[in-house]
Amino acid sequence: MKQYLTVDEWSIIEEGFHPDYNQISESVFSLGNGRMGQRANFEEAFSGETLQGNYVAGVYYPDKTRVGWWKNGYPEYFAKVLNAANWIGIDVQLDGETLDLHQCEVTDFRRELNMREGWLERRFTATLPSGKQVRVEAKRFTSIVDDEVGAIRYSVTPLNFSGTLTLTPYVDADIMNADSNYDEKFWNEVLQEAQPTEGYVIAETKKTFFHVCTGQKFVVTQNGQEVAVNATPTERTKYIASRFDVAVQQGEETVLYKYAANLSSENHSKADLLANTKNVISAAAEKGFEQLLHEQAAAWAAKWEESDIMIEGDAAAQQGIRFNIFQLNQTYTGEDERLNIGPKGFTGEKYGGTTYWDTEAYCLPFYLATADPQVARNLLIYRYKHLPKAIENAEKLGFTGGAALYPMVTINGEECHNEWEITFEEVHRNGAIAHAIHDYIRYTGDDSYLAEYGIEVLVGISRFWAQRVNWSGAKNQYVMLGVTGPNEYENNVNNNWYTSTIATWTLEYTLKALQHVQETNAARYAELVSKLNLNEEKEPAQWQHVIDHMYYPVDEELGIFLQQDGFLDKEQTLVKDLPASDRPLNQKWSWDRILRSVFIKQADVLQGIYLFEDRYDLETIRRNYDFYEPRTVHESSLSPCVHAILAAKLGDEERAYEFYLRTARLDLDDYNNDTEDGCHITSMAGTWVSVVQGFGGMRVRDNQLHFNPFIPAGWSSYSFKIRFRGHLLNIKVTKDNVQIENQSAQPLTLQVFDQAQTIDAHSKAEIAHQLA
Ligand code: BGC
Repeated sequence: MKQYLTVDEWSIIEEGFHPDYNQISESVFSLGNGRMGQRANFEEAFSGETLQGNYVAGVYYPDKTRVGWWKNGYPEYFAKVLNAANWIGIDVQLDGETLDLHQCEVTDFRRELNMREGWLERRFTATLPSGKQVRVEAKRFTSIVDDEVGAIRYSVTPLNFSGTLTLTPYVDADIMNADSNYDEKFWNEVLQEAQPTEGYVIAETKKTFFHVCTGQKFVVTQNGQEVAVNATPTERTKYIASRFDVAVQQGEETVLYKYAANLSSENHSKADLLANTKNVISAAAEKGFEQLLHEQAAAWAAKWEESDIMIEGDAAAQQGIRFNIFQLNQTYTGEDERLNIGPKGFTGEKYGGTTYWDTEAYCLPFYLATADPQVARNLLIYRYKHLPKAIENAEKLGFTGGAALYPMVTINGEECHNEWEITFEEVHRNGAIAHAIHDYIRYTGDDSYLAEYGIEVLVGISRFWAQRVNWSGAKNQYVMLGVTGPNEYENNVNNNWYTSTIATWTLEYTLKALQHVQETNAARYAELVSKLNLNEEKEPAQWQHVIDHMYYPVDEELGIFLQQDGFLDKEQTLVKDLPASDRPLNQKWSWDRILRSVFIKQADVLQGIYLFEDRYDLETIRRNYDFYEPRTVHESSLSPCVHAILAAKLGDEERAYEFYLRTARLDLDDYNNDTEDGCHITSMAGTWVSVVQGFGGMRVRDNQLHFNPFIPAGWSSYSFKIRFRGHLLNIKVTKDNVQIENQSAQPLTLQVFDQAQTIDAHSKAEIAHQLA
């Protein structure tokens, strides 16, 4: 845990330079706009510890798989959203001496990520080895108005000398991923073109042949006046630069405005890429930095208007939640159905920018409630488009007849993960994808999605489950053998309760969905039967048979669902009895010791209870929670949020708040000692869910919103905005009451503390808290 960042409600601030934490800061201060993302690397040279990172959405490289022992069925590659051209680079020399903060004495350092307006600023005074002192102020952003554009204002003021400042703005696409499996570069040269004040590089990914054109154009001012510079352009492979000298006077400021763009062949034809990049950059340069920044601030204000959570009385919690919302909005905008949400977003290389079940299980509720329904729909369409690949994937593993197994990790629908116990066995992910369809329809009411797209995915997944179980003669029931549940600290177990539960839930939902389409859209139903080759007599009956005869491990005496067969054979120790020096287990214990132990990485049975809570009474939920939570080490960032919601439901407000804090400031405080790899983007959605579903007790049941809120003891109030079926609501919870403001033009009836409330258009209702 590190607490070197200043608490502020709207900004992340580093006061004083912390070079030892530089890679953590590079993750935390990252910028992105859904189309590209940039770690908070310095513009000028830096010879200290750094992980350079710029990522262009959708542009990936299939890095050949590297495993110790090859298993049939392993994917050939792991897809990586590539570390792409460095567009921020500006080399700085003062009378020939390079500015490099690793070689300087740095004072008055301040770095700010302004979340309200979406920009990053760094200011410092550097004393170079020669004794020369300069003041630098660098501000930049990746535009959310034009998502191919980035802009930098880089200002240099000599403090104790007059002399020559040499600036070399450049674009460098000769980049290597730090996690390259075979230490190879993934980019080939296509074109370099450098002119005095602008330049372009086109690089091509090996194997996938994406083209990315990265360009720059710059303007220089001194004392606020534009000055003509005599720049010398240079080109070398995958690199362009323009170098120029300007005479600088002590105390006088020189500013370089650098406009950059990243355009990819995902969105432009290769033939037009260069011309389009020139146009995009020229348009940005014409607008100028201040105008672009003004538009950026306005666009962020609009985003905050829809998705902010305000907390009064706890600035650290406020900063934490805003940071999470900011990063989520920087990662995924929902405008492009080909894109998804990597667990680290655009803030690092880990997980390759690829898609996990995290999207459906954790992120979807955030986008459902804070953005246009199209955004969540695009997340579903992404999986719909991958259905043929999911069917191929299942075929590779021996499944037939249109059974679909969605990958554990993917970028284009193909499986990339290569650990047999996860790739082949962590099949519960399929259930999350089915459940997301239900979640989307439950929230939006858009059940046309079923006939249009949803059924096809549901049938594919149901076919998989029906084949993945087998009839046990001994039990006279269906069993599901050799699986890994969400708790990855158990592998290859039999009858994981969560997996079996979500499997039969999928079968039930698919049967209902088929019936619904048959009743409401007979023509489409007939079309689907034929397209899917659905055996109307056999398949639904077989699914029903599985539903009716599925085996679920339970322990009657304890009154709990068993995580898997044999769970109680384990030595029943508790996390509280683990020495601190043994944590985290995944770094301290051998893998076999972890597997044999009782300790649980993340919500497993409790994940199922969270998803299907309406099936269980409070006492059942409590017994399972009381049994499993004390055995859970929460070594996945996805774990605390589920526990926060369940603790809140059980009325344990203190524990709910504790769990919330663990996710809300996970990266800001580097809680898990791994923020340098990138921020935990997908678990950030879990933080939002902890507040809205946990503290706010928000649920959607029977086409209505329900709230059952409480307020954490240390807060004076909190409020959040949600969209719901054409309505915009602001929910504020104070110590005294719950205030629900209907900001839309139609009245809305909802349930607060299980009492119906109708709130007129543009009005507010105040409801007193219920005494427990
Ligand atoms: C978790 C998975 C998750 C993955 C990516 C793992 O540590 O156990 O559930 O999908 O991280 O976030």
